[in-house]
Amino acid sequence: MGTTMNVKRFAVSAGVAILIVASYSGCARKPKIQRGDTAAAAIATYVAPGDLDEFYLFYSGGQSGSIFVAGIPSLRHIATIPVFTPYPATGYGFDKETKAMLGGHLWGDVHHPALSQTNGDYDGRWLFVNDNANNRVARVDLRDFKTKEIYGPIPNVSGNHGSTFVTPNTEYILTATRFSVPLPKGTYAPIEQYATTYKGVVGGVAVDPKTGHMSLAWQVLMPPFDFDLGSGGKGPSDGWAFWSSYNTERATGKLEVTSTQRDRDYIAAVNWKAAEQAIKNGKFKTIGGAKVIDPKDTPGIVFLMPCSKSPHGVDVSPDGKYIVGSGKLQSITTVFNIDKILNAIQNKNFTGNEDGIPVLNYDAIKDAEVNVGLGPLHTQFDDKGYAYTSLFVESAIAKWRMGPPWDVVDKIPVAYNIGHLCIPGSDTMHPVGKYVLALNKLSHGRHISVGPTQPESTQLIDITGDKMKLLYDAFTEPEPHYAQVIRVDRLKPIEVYSKEENKDPNAIWDVKDAGVTRNGKNVIVKMIAVRSTFTPTSFEVNQGDHVTVYLTNIEQTTNESHGFGMVDYDINILMDPGETRTIEFTADKSGVYAYYCTKFCSALHQEMQGYMLVKPGGGAKTASLKKPSSAPGGN
Ligand code: CUA
Repeated sequence: MGTTMNVKRFAVSAGVAILIVASYSGCARKPKIQRGDTAAAAIATYVAPGDLDEFYLFYSGGQSGSIFVAGIPSLRHIATIPVFTPYPATGYGFDKETKAMLGGHLWGDVHHPALSQTNGDYDGRWLFVNDNANNRVARVDLRDFKTKEIYGPIPNVSGNHGSTFVTPNTEYILTATRFSVPLPKGTYAPIEQYATTYKGVVGGVAVDPKTGHMSLAWQVLMPPFDFDLGSGGKGPSDGWAFWSSYNTERATGKLEVTSTQRDRDYIAAVNWKAAEQAIKNGKFKTIGGAKVIDPKDTPGIVFLMPCSKSPHGVDVSPDGKYIVGSGKLQSITTVFNIDKILNAIQNKNFTGNEDGIPVLNYDAIKDAEVNVGLGPLHTQFDDKGYAYTSLFVESAIAKWRMGPPWDVVDKIPVAYNIGHLCIPGSDTMHPVGKYVLALNKLSHGRHISVGPTQPESTQLIDITGDKMKLLYDAFTEPEPHYAQVIRVDRLKPIEVYSKEENKDPNAIWDVKDAGVTRNGKNVIVKMIAVRSTFTPTSFEVNQGDHVTVYLTNIEQTTNESHGFGMVDYDINILMDPGETRTIEFTADKSGVYAYYCTKFCSALHQEMQGYMLVKPGGGAKTASLKKPSSAPGGN
């Protein structure tokens, strides 16, 4: 405990601020370049032209609102999956269907992707991601790598950060509020009433096992803490969900000072099977349209595990026996034992309560405190009995033995200031202890300069031997938080939508069916795209008409997507082979407007074009095109 006490002294806000700043400016001035054995690393990561990677890497795009797909070990970026943000490259957010899914939002803040699981292992069906900003969750279908559903806003949640971790059979994806607010949303209460009137919630979004459809299942009312990260129990801890929390001081103002006063914060342990039962028994109140369990009225649902102060990560080990929590402001990581937790609950071994929620006796539920290093954040696990904890302040990864003895066996510096880390399958029951990815917050000096806005860095580290070995640096658009890695052979993506599975009632497959129909001011255009023409090649409407274009790409050949862009009308979509997409707009500008294929598809791609002719009318006799203008940029 000696080190713990020393670090605790440091930890009083100002000290840690200095530590963190020192570590930032230190690397900004003089980048410390680490290299491994260059030749061995080159061979280990080189994927020769025509060869394929071994793993898919899905990493969150943070405030870009997207998911990035890369291969491991090459770390080559292969695709972007737009989720909460329009993406012109694939026309996402431009056609009627995806525009409706985005619900008018221009962005989301994607933090923690989670692959769906069956019996505690990845089943390769779906990828879920959270939107921290607009309180949503989304489902990507891994059959075609497309976002199929966005659910939200999740009631009562304000900053859906502790999400989308899944339970072992994808019964639920987890959701939790980061910022406590008065409930239901829209209620006003002065900030002075934060500690008493503001509320947090944690909960589960149910996933239909057949369709993947998401719906809100249960929520638990919590004290006004800031809930941070989550993890689903498995094996002996199946049926439990865990969330870390900070600001258990219930403080406001400068949290760097006000929320770091206590020696310990909490991990909330929620018995979700009991929560399910409580909802069935009607033991909930409806808040903001959600079924919310109040632990004061319904005990036995949630317990608080004291944890080192200001914890970030909480991670359940692959065998489900251990729950590992790290406090950013202490150098130790605590290993809690599920058997001891269940015993303490049964024997009511509590040291107090928070708004009626029992606080478990810290000494009775822990197996070990591991002195991992400065600024421990997240922990991942391999298949050989070792854990790996990211150290933000120390800018390193510590490898430690899941003991006894519980001791650090290796450490590797990273460039720089690591956030999350990821071992393939670490959150399943069967990790693949081959690589750890360091998802770092800073990259200065590791790449050619690109001006003040710098990318983040991702480092691939070999963990097959006793010593961790740095293999490769890659740079990513902002901002990877967590990631998921799955073996390539676990996914079987399609490359063409078969004609049979296209259920769009407005799909057409024969040019004879293409054409224009009018009903009052509503004009419907059914169009076919196939190498290298659109049918019809022109259509006419009246100014002010409401135009709906159903575009079917009748190709059944891989790689034969067609785009549809319309000049001056801000229209841009993409139809993959066999796909139908819908565009809706008002033809408010008179004149003649070209449409063309935006995606290179054949030798005569450039000839794939047509015209929309808009007759003046409806009171507006002249064209109303915008006058040229320019706006000054910054600086
Ligand atoms: Cu169709 Cu280019």
